Amino acid sequence: MNILGIESSCDETAAAVVEDGRKILSSVVASQIDIHAVYGGVVPEIASRAHTEAICGVVNEALEKAELTINDIDAIAVTNAPGLIGALLTGVSFAKGLAFSSGKPLVPVHHIRGHVAANYLAHQELEPSFVALVVSGGHTSLMRVEGYTDYKLIGHARDDAAGEAFDKCARVLGLPYPGGAAMDRLASVGDKKKYKFTAGTVDGAEFDFTFSGLKTAVINLVHGETQRGRVIDDEFRADIAASFTETLVKSICSRIKLLLEREGAQNIVLAGGVAANSHLRAAVKATAEAFGAKLYLPPLSLCGDNAAMIAAQGYYEFLAGVRGGTDLNAFATKGV
Ligand code: KG4
Ligand code: ZN
Repeated sequence: MNILGIESSCDETAAAVVEDGRKILSSVVASQIDIHAVYGGVVPEIASRAHTEAICGVVNEALEKAELTINDIDAIAVTNAPGLIGALLTGVSFAKGLAFSSGKPLVPVHHIRGHVAANYLAHQELEPSFVALVVSGGHTSLMRVEGYTDYKLIGHARDDAAGEAFDKCARVLGLPYPGGAAMDRLASVGDKKKYKFTAGTVDGAEFDFTFSGLKTAVINLVHGETQRGRVIDDEFRADIAASFTETLVKSICSRIKLLLEREGAQNIVLAGGVAANSHLRAAVKATAEAFGAKLYLPPLSLCGDNAAMIAAQGYYEFLAGVRGGTDLNAFATKGV
Protein backbone atom coordinates (compact mmCIF):
# COMPACT_ATOMS: atom_id res chain seq x y z
CA MET A 1 0.00 0.00 0.00
CA ASN A 2 1.45 3.38 -1.06
CA ILE A 3 0.80 6.35 1.19
CA LEU A 4 1.52 9.92 0.10
CA GLY A 5 2.50 11.95 3.18
CA ILE A 6 2.27 15.74 3.42
CA GLU A 7 3.87 17.79 6.22
CA SER A 8 3.71 21.58 6.73
CA SER A 9 3.40 22.11 10.49
CA CYS A 10 6.34 24.49 10.92
CA ASP A 11 9.06 25.64 8.53
CA GLU A 12 9.51 22.61 6.26
CA THR A 13 7.23 21.88 3.32
CA ALA A 14 7.54 18.13 2.80
CA ALA A 15 6.00 15.30 0.79
CA ALA A 16 6.94 11.63 0.60
CA VAL A 17 5.72 8.27 -0.62
CA VAL A 18 6.07 5.30 1.73
CA GLU A 19 5.20 1.67 1.02
CA ASP A 20 3.43 -0.30 3.76
CA GLY A 21 4.54 2.13 6.46
CA ARG A 22 8.14 0.95 6.30
CA LYS A 23 9.83 1.62 2.96
CA ILE A 24 10.61 5.14 1.69
CA LEU A 25 9.98 5.40 -2.07
CA SER A 26 10.66 9.15 -2.07
CA SER A 27 11.06 11.96 0.45
CA VAL A 28 11.26 15.64 -0.48
CA VAL A 29 11.83 18.41 2.08
CA ALA A 30 11.80 22.10 1.11
CA SER A 31 13.25 23.98 4.07
CA GLN A 32 12.38 27.61 4.80
CA ILE A 33 15.30 28.06 7.19
CA ASP A 34 17.02 30.68 5.01
CA ILE A 35 13.82 32.77 4.87
CA HIS A 36 13.35 32.79 8.67
CA ALA A 37 17.05 33.04 9.65
CA VAL A 38 17.08 36.81 9.07
CA TYR A 39 14.41 37.17 11.79
CA GLY A 40 16.13 34.80 14.23
CA GLY A 41 13.14 32.43 14.34
CA VAL A 42 10.07 31.26 12.44
CA VAL A 43 7.64 34.02 11.42
CA PRO A 44 4.26 32.21 11.19
CA GLU A 45 2.69 34.33 8.45
CA ILE A 46 5.78 34.07 6.25
CA ALA A 47 5.83 30.29 6.87
CA SER A 48 2.21 29.93 5.67
CA ARG A 49 2.93 31.86 2.49
CA ALA A 50 6.11 29.92 1.76
CA HIS A 51 4.23 26.60 2.22
CA THR A 52 1.58 27.78 -0.25
CA GLU A 53 4.27 28.58 -2.83
CA ALA A 54 6.18 25.31 -2.36
CA ILE A 55 3.54 22.65 -1.81
CA CYS A 56 2.50 21.85 -5.42
CA GLY A 57 6.10 21.46 -6.57
CA VAL A 58 7.11 19.42 -3.53
CA VAL A 59 4.21 16.94 -3.89
CA ASN A 60 4.86 16.59 -7.64
CA GLU A 61 8.54 15.96 -6.99
CA ALA A 62 7.74 13.28 -4.38
CA LEU A 63 5.51 11.44 -6.88
CA GLU A 64 8.08 11.80 -9.67
CA LYS A 65 10.95 10.53 -7.50
CA ALA A 66 8.84 7.52 -6.48
CA GLU A 67 8.13 6.98 -10.21
CA LEU A 68 4.42 6.94 -9.46
CA THR A 69 1.36 9.01 -10.31
CA ILE A 70 -1.51 9.94 -8.01
CA ASN A 71 -3.36 6.89 -9.43
CA ASP A 72 -0.80 4.60 -7.72
CA ILE A 73 -1.43 6.19 -4.30
CA ASP A 74 -3.78 4.37 -1.90
CA ALA A 75 -4.25 7.13 0.68
CA ILE A 76 -3.10 10.68 1.45
CA ALA A 77 -1.80 11.30 4.98
CA VAL A 78 -1.43 14.85 6.23
CA THR A 79 -0.22 16.44 9.48
CA ASN A 80 -3.23 18.26 10.95
CA ALA A 81 -1.92 18.92 14.50
CA PRO A 82 -0.06 20.28 16.41
CA GLY A 83 1.91 23.18 14.89
CA LEU A 84 1.54 26.69 13.50
CA ILE A 85 -2.09 26.95 12.53
CA GLY A 86 -1.63 28.81 9.23
CA ALA A 87 1.19 26.47 8.22
CA LEU A 88 -0.86 23.37 9.10
CA LEU A 89 -3.89 24.68 7.20
CA THR A 90 -1.86 24.97 4.00
CA GLY A 91 -1.02 21.26 4.03
CA VAL A 92 -4.48 20.20 5.23
CA SER A 93 -6.27 22.29 2.57
CA PHE A 94 -3.98 21.00 -0.17
CA ALA A 95 -4.41 17.38 0.97
CA LYS A 96 -8.19 17.76 1.16
CA GLY A 97 -8.31 19.13 -2.38
CA LEU A 98 -6.06 16.38 -3.72
CA ALA A 99 -7.99 13.63 -1.91
CA PHE A 100 -11.33 14.98 -3.13
CA SER A 101 -10.22 15.42 -6.75
CA SER A 102 -8.47 12.03 -6.94
CA GLY A 103 -11.06 10.09 -4.93
CA LYS A 104 -8.38 8.85 -2.47
CA PRO A 105 -8.95 8.43 1.28
CA LEU A 106 -7.59 11.21 3.50
CA VAL A 107 -5.85 10.35 6.80
CA PRO A 108 -5.04 12.99 9.47
CA VAL A 109 -1.78 12.40 11.35
CA HIS A 110 -0.57 13.83 14.68
CA HIS A 111 2.88 15.36 14.17
CA ILE A 112 4.37 13.82 17.33
CA ARG A 113 3.18 10.35 16.36
CA GLY A 114 4.83 11.01 13.00
CA HIS A 115 8.19 11.71 14.67
CA VAL A 116 7.95 8.38 16.52
CA ALA A 117 7.09 6.60 13.24
CA ALA A 118 10.40 7.78 11.72
CA ASN A 119 11.81 4.85 13.68
CA TYR A 120 9.59 2.33 11.82
CA LEU A 121 11.34 3.42 8.62
CA ALA A 122 14.79 2.88 10.14
CA HIS A 123 14.17 -0.23 12.26
CA GLN A 124 12.08 -2.81 10.42
CA GLU A 125 11.77 -5.00 13.52
CA LEU A 126 10.43 -2.24 15.78
CA GLU A 127 6.84 -2.72 16.92
CA PRO A 128 4.85 -1.30 19.87
CA SER A 129 4.79 -1.47 22.78
CA PHE A 130 7.64 0.83 23.76
CA VAL A 131 8.38 4.10 25.54
CA ALA A 132 8.91 7.06 23.20
CA LEU A 133 10.59 10.38 23.84
CA VAL A 134 10.04 13.08 21.22
CA VAL A 135 12.38 16.05 21.60
CA SER A 136 11.93 18.73 18.98
CA GLY A 137 11.67 22.47 18.47
CA GLY A 138 8.07 22.51 19.64
CA HIS A 139 7.74 19.43 21.86
CA THR A 140 9.32 17.40 24.62
CA SER A 141 6.96 14.47 25.19
CA LEU A 142 7.51 11.21 27.02
CA MET A 143 4.90 8.66 25.97
CA ARG A 144 3.91 5.05 26.26
CA VAL A 145 3.15 3.68 22.81
CA GLU A 146 0.94 0.66 23.46
CA GLY A 147 -0.12 0.16 19.85
CA TYR A 148 0.56 1.95 16.55
CA THR A 149 -2.38 4.28 17.26
CA ASP A 150 -2.56 3.90 21.04
CA TYR A 151 -0.58 6.62 22.84
CA LYS A 152 -0.50 7.52 26.54
CA LEU A 153 1.30 10.69 27.65
CA ILE A 154 3.65 10.15 30.62
CA GLY A 155 5.21 13.61 30.81
CA HIS A 156 5.80 16.71 28.72
CA ALA A 157 7.48 20.12 28.78
CA ARG A 158 5.40 22.66 30.71
CA ASP A 159 7.08 25.63 29.04
CA ASP A 160 9.82 25.75 26.40
CA ALA A 161 10.52 22.58 24.44
CA ALA A 162 14.13 21.36 24.42
CA GLY A 163 14.70 22.59 20.85
CA GLU A 164 13.23 25.99 21.67
CA ALA A 165 15.71 26.28 24.58
CA PHE A 166 18.60 25.25 22.28
CA ASP A 167 17.59 27.81 19.65
CA LYS A 168 17.12 30.70 22.11
CA CYS A 169 20.48 30.05 23.81
CA ALA A 170 22.12 29.85 20.41
CA ARG A 171 20.55 33.16 19.44
CA VAL A 172 21.88 35.01 22.50
CA LEU A 173 25.32 33.61 21.63
CA GLY A 174 25.02 35.14 18.16
CA LEU A 175 24.56 31.87 16.26
CA PRO A 176 22.21 31.74 13.26
CA TYR A 177 18.72 30.19 13.52
CA PRO A 178 18.17 27.32 14.18
CA GLY A 179 21.18 26.98 16.43
CA GLY A 180 20.69 23.44 17.79
CA ALA A 181 23.22 21.77 15.52
CA ALA A 182 25.83 24.52 16.11
CA MET A 183 25.32 24.20 19.89
CA ASP A 184 25.92 20.45 19.50
CA ARG A 185 29.29 21.03 17.80
CA LEU A 186 30.32 23.75 20.28
CA ALA A 187 29.37 21.59 23.27
CA SER A 188 31.86 18.96 22.07
CA VAL A 189 34.78 21.35 22.58
CA GLY A 190 33.52 23.26 25.64
CA ASP A 191 33.91 22.69 29.37
CA LYS A 192 30.62 21.27 30.65
CA LYS A 193 31.54 22.05 34.28
CA LYS A 194 32.34 25.73 33.62
CA TYR A 195 28.86 27.06 34.47
CA LYS A 196 26.39 25.63 36.98
CA PHE A 197 22.90 25.63 35.50
CA THR A 198 19.84 23.77 36.70
CA ALA A 199 16.73 22.46 34.99
CA GLY A 200 13.76 22.43 37.31
CA THR A 201 11.29 19.76 38.25
CA VAL A 202 7.52 20.14 38.34
CA ASP A 203 5.86 19.61 41.70
CA GLY A 204 3.42 16.71 41.52
CA ALA A 205 4.43 15.77 37.96
CA GLU A 206 7.75 13.98 38.20
CA PHE A 207 7.90 13.08 34.49
CA ASP A 208 7.23 16.63 33.25
CA PHE A 209 10.01 18.91 32.03
CA THR A 210 10.70 22.63 32.44
CA PHE A 211 13.44 24.29 30.41
CA SER A 212 12.49 27.97 30.40
CA GLY A 213 14.40 28.67 33.65
CA LEU A 214 17.50 27.04 32.20
CA LYS A 215 17.14 29.10 29.00
CA THR A 216 16.67 32.32 31.01
CA ALA A 217 19.73 31.55 33.17
CA VAL A 218 21.86 31.25 30.03
CA ILE A 219 20.43 34.45 28.53
CA ASN A 220 20.97 36.38 31.79
CA LEU A 221 24.54 35.11 32.13
CA VAL A 222 25.42 36.13 28.58
CA HIS A 223 23.77 39.55 28.97
CA GLY A 224 25.56 40.11 32.31
CA GLU A 225 28.95 39.17 30.89
CA THR A 226 28.39 41.33 27.81
CA GLN A 227 27.46 44.32 29.99
CA ARG A 228 30.71 43.84 31.88
CA GLY A 229 32.48 44.19 28.56
CA ARG A 230 33.15 40.57 27.73
CA VAL A 231 33.41 39.72 24.07
CA ILE A 232 31.42 36.64 23.06
CA ASP A 233 34.14 34.49 21.53
CA ASP A 234 34.18 30.82 20.55
CA GLU A 235 35.59 29.66 23.89
CA PHE A 236 32.76 31.40 25.80
CA ARG A 237 30.17 30.01 23.37
CA ALA A 238 31.58 26.49 23.69
CA ASP A 239 31.61 26.54 27.52
CA ILE A 240 28.03 27.83 27.64
CA ALA A 241 26.89 25.29 25.04
CA ALA A 242 28.58 22.44 26.94
CA SER A 243 27.22 23.48 30.35
CA PHE A 244 23.71 24.09 28.99
CA THR A 245 23.65 20.78 27.08
CA GLU A 246 24.92 18.85 30.11
CA THR A 247 22.08 20.24 32.25
CA LEU A 248 19.36 19.66 29.65
CA VAL A 249 20.54 16.13 28.81
CA LYS A 250 20.76 15.21 32.52
CA SER A 251 17.21 16.44 33.04
CA ILE A 252 15.91 14.31 30.16
CA CYS A 253 17.87 11.23 31.26
CA SER A 254 16.65 11.56 34.86
CA ARG A 255 13.04 11.03 33.69
CA ILE A 256 14.03 7.99 31.62
CA LYS A 257 16.02 6.61 34.55
CA LEU A 258 13.05 7.04 36.88
CA LEU A 259 10.78 5.22 34.46
CA LEU A 260 13.19 2.32 33.99
CA GLU A 261 13.78 2.06 37.76
CA ARG A 262 10.04 1.80 38.31
CA GLU A 263 9.10 -0.41 35.41
CA GLY A 264 12.23 -2.34 34.46
CA ALA A 265 13.83 -2.75 31.03
CA GLN A 266 11.77 -2.00 27.95
CA ASN A 267 12.30 -0.72 24.45
CA ILE A 268 12.89 3.03 24.19
CA VAL A 269 12.44 5.12 21.05
CA LEU A 270 13.98 8.58 20.69
CA ALA A 271 12.74 10.95 17.98
CA GLY A 272 12.44 14.59 16.88
CA GLY A 273 14.89 17.25 15.70
CA VAL A 274 16.80 17.34 19.01
CA ALA A 275 17.25 13.55 18.80
CA ALA A 276 20.02 14.49 16.34
CA ASN A 277 22.02 15.88 19.27
CA SER A 278 25.14 13.74 19.72
CA HIS A 279 25.35 14.34 23.49
CA LEU A 280 21.70 13.43 24.05
CA ARG A 281 22.02 10.32 21.88
CA ALA A 282 25.08 9.11 23.83
CA ALA A 283 23.57 9.86 27.25
CA VAL A 284 20.19 8.23 26.54
CA LYS A 285 22.02 5.21 25.11
CA ALA A 286 24.14 4.90 28.27
CA THR A 287 21.04 5.27 30.49
CA ALA A 288 19.15 2.62 28.53
CA GLU A 289 22.12 0.23 28.60
CA ALA A 290 22.53 0.64 32.35
CA PHE A 291 19.03 -0.78 32.75
CA GLY A 292 19.33 -3.43 30.02
CA ALA A 293 16.84 -1.53 27.85
CA LYS A 294 17.15 -1.37 24.07
CA LEU A 295 17.30 2.07 22.48
CA TYR A 296 16.06 2.86 18.96
CA LEU A 297 17.34 6.03 17.33
CA PRO A 298 16.36 7.46 13.95
CA PRO A 299 19.18 8.28 11.51
CA LEU A 300 19.96 12.01 11.46
CA SER A 301 18.11 12.35 8.14
CA LEU A 302 14.83 11.32 9.80
CA CYS A 303 15.15 13.30 13.07
CA GLY A 304 13.94 16.65 11.74
CA ASP A 305 10.58 17.32 10.12
CA ASN A 306 9.89 15.26 7.01
CA ALA A 307 6.86 13.72 5.34
CA ALA A 308 8.12 10.11 5.21
CA MET A 309 7.41 9.86 8.96
CA ILE A 310 3.89 11.23 8.35
CA ALA A 311 3.26 8.68 5.59
CA ALA A 312 4.60 5.88 7.85
CA GLN A 313 2.26 6.80 10.70
CA GLY A 314 -0.49 7.48 8.15
CA TYR A 315 -0.29 3.85 7.05
CA TYR A 316 -1.03 2.61 10.58
CA GLU A 317 -3.75 5.23 11.12
CA PHE A 318 -5.30 4.09 7.81
CA LEU A 319 -5.27 0.45 8.93
CA ALA A 320 -6.95 1.54 12.19
CA GLY A 321 -9.75 3.14 10.16
CA VAL A 322 -8.83 6.77 10.79
CA ARG A 323 -10.20 9.03 8.01
CA GLY A 324 -10.60 12.75 7.40
CA GLY A 325 -13.44 14.25 5.41
CA THR A 326 -13.73 17.53 3.53
CA ASP A 327 -14.47 19.09 6.94
CA LEU A 328 -11.04 18.05 8.33
CA ASN A 329 -9.57 20.88 10.40
CA ALA A 330 -6.09 21.71 11.70
CA PHE A 331 -5.30 22.30 15.39
CA ALA A 332 -2.41 24.27 16.85
CA THR A 333 -2.45 22.06 19.96
CA LYS A 334 -3.85 18.59 20.41
CA GLY A 335 -3.19 15.74 22.82
CA VAL A 336 -1.22 12.84 21.38
O1 KG4 B 1 11.60 18.11 14.79
P1 KG4 B 1 12.00 19.44 14.29
O2 KG4 B 1 12.57 19.51 12.89
O3 KG4 B 1 10.82 20.45 14.31
C1 KG4 B 1 9.80 20.45 15.28
O4 KG4 B 1 8.90 19.60 15.21
O5 KG4 B 1 9.91 21.33 16.17
O6 KG4 B 1 13.05 20.03 15.33
C2 KG4 B 1 13.74 21.20 15.10
C3 KG4 B 1 14.61 21.50 16.31
C4 KG4 B 1 15.24 22.89 16.29
O7 KG4 B 1 15.00 23.50 17.53
C5 KG4 B 1 16.73 22.60 16.09
O8 KG4 B 1 17.59 23.55 16.64
C6 KG4 B 1 16.85 21.28 16.80
O9 KG4 B 1 15.69 20.56 16.41
N1 KG4 B 1 18.06 20.53 16.45
C7 KG4 B 1 19.03 20.23 17.34
C8 KG4 B 1 20.03 19.54 16.62
N2 KG4 B 1 19.63 19.44 15.32
C9 KG4 B 1 18.42 20.05 15.24
N3 KG4 B 1 19.14 20.49 18.65
C10 KG4 B 1 20.23 20.07 19.28
N4 KG4 B 1 21.24 19.40 18.67
C11 KG4 B 1 21.18 19.12 17.36
N5 KG4 B 1 22.18 18.44 16.77
ZN1 ZN C 1 8.66 18.13 14.24
